[in-house]
Amino acid sequence: MSSIYIETYGCQMNFADSEVVNSILGKEGYTTTKDINLADYILINTCAIRDNAEQRIRKRLHELKALQRQHPQLRIGILGCMAERLKTQLLEEEDNVSFVVGPDAYRKLPTILQLVQKGEKTAETELSTEETYSDIQPVRIDGNGISAYISIMRGCQNFCAYCVVPYTRGRERSRDPHSIIEDAQMLFSQGYKEVTLLGQNVNSYRFTEADGTLVGFPELMERVAQVSPLLRVRFATSHPKDLSDELLQVMAKYPNICRCIHLPVQSGNDRMLKLMNRHYTTEWYLNRIDAIRRYLPDCSITTDVIAGFCSETEEEHQDTLAMFRTVRYDYAYMFKFSLRPNTYAEKHLHDDVPEEVKTRRLEEIIKLQGEIALENNQKEIGRVYEVLVEGTSHRSKEQLFGRNSQNKVIVFDRGNHQPGTYVNVKVTNCTAATLIGEVVEQA
Ligand code: 5AD
Ligand code: SF4
Repeated sequence: MSSIYIETYGCQMNFADSEVVNSILGKEGYTTTKDINLADYILINTCAIRDNAEQRIRKRLHELKALQRQHPQLRIGILGCMAERLKTQLLEEEDNVSFVVGPDAYRKLPTILQLVQKGEKTAETELSTEETYSDIQPVRIDGNGISAYISIMRGCQNFCAYCVVPYTRGRERSRDPHSIIEDAQMLFSQGYKEVTLLGQNVNSYRFTEADGTLVGFPELMERVAQVSPLLRVRFATSHPKDLSDELLQVMAKYPNICRCIHLPVQSGNDRMLKLMNRHYTTEWYLNRIDAIRRYLPDCSITTDVIAGFCSETEEEHQDTLAMFRTVRYDYAYMFKFSLRPNTYAEKHLHDDVPEEVKTRRLEEIIKLQGEIALENNQKEIGRVYEVLVEGTSHRSKEQLFGRNSQNKVIVFDRGNHQPGTYVNVKVTNCTAATLIGEVVEQA
């Protein structure tokens, strides 16, 4: 039987989708290989969020030409956001691509592969308003057997002015809570200790049950947290406009809901936020930060930020730096603005901040965030955390690494400890990115 190799780029949602694809094809008898040289089909699950994400895929396709010369039967398919964005254009532009499949069309993959085997080229990129792959049990790829993603909703309709996602992933829809709970229970019974609930905007999760009851995100979280106190629950991503006190109250009630909130700020300036169509002001955002600190004093806060959005002035950039100084994020994903086709920004605004200015502003944010992260970590020295052990440290075989509830990575001496267990670790040292510690008997 034919063998598939799946390569995934982009966000956690894409990694979760690759597991759905793995499941769909596995049921049809395809086997997955971890050795690209043994593959009959290479599926590349792609991201379209910034231009450099797409350039990377184009380069990868070029590299794969050598492998295709050695294995003339090998077929390559593009899945995910870049597939959705470019559709048949990808077949025209990249001569070594045989099939293009958008995020809502993965159920068609078995049929598509049959066509491809007959020598046809094909693109399936129809978006759906209903598809959630609810009934498909994802088959984990490269997992550590300890932590897994569960997709709880798909799509996004916030239409931030810079963002391509509403066009590549379609309308927002929530998955049936029963299938989410079943997934969590099943993972826990298989030995998993941590699940991350995924959606582009998890706070707007809402599902209407057959009897008319509405299940919102706080209630869903509560149900997942009740699967077991030994199952950690994380979630991403929260939109600041929808982060409710009710959710924070549920988090406070369940110690196994992890103390980490990813709250993308994007900019620290009100004019920019309005232009970005974010639906909140800096005042609102800071009010949400205060609420997090009030309900969950030990919660870490992380963010996304964009440097050099259309017409951003030097003062407005300074406002972003000021926001970073005020909130003191534990971690940040920091990006230069990249103008994306079809977005509001492309149609109505001007990408007028010069490249070198964007680069300099981004560097300033990165430098400041590095200092803040180090200072935050230094304050951790002496504290004891419950750590879920994930595996052997990349630097030394004698050390293990894991994460605390705040999602910070902690490295410590192996001793007799095993991945998949909880240990208490006292922080003894740190860098800006990692805590270093030693195992202690109790918290
Ligand atoms: N340019 C730069 N960064 C972007 N992001 C989304 N769209 C763009 C873009 N066009 C960033 C945002 C978002 C994260 C996933 O990627 O910060 O939160
Ligand atoms: Fe994920 Fe957005 Fe990239 Fe699509 S475009 S893979 S949704 S980050």
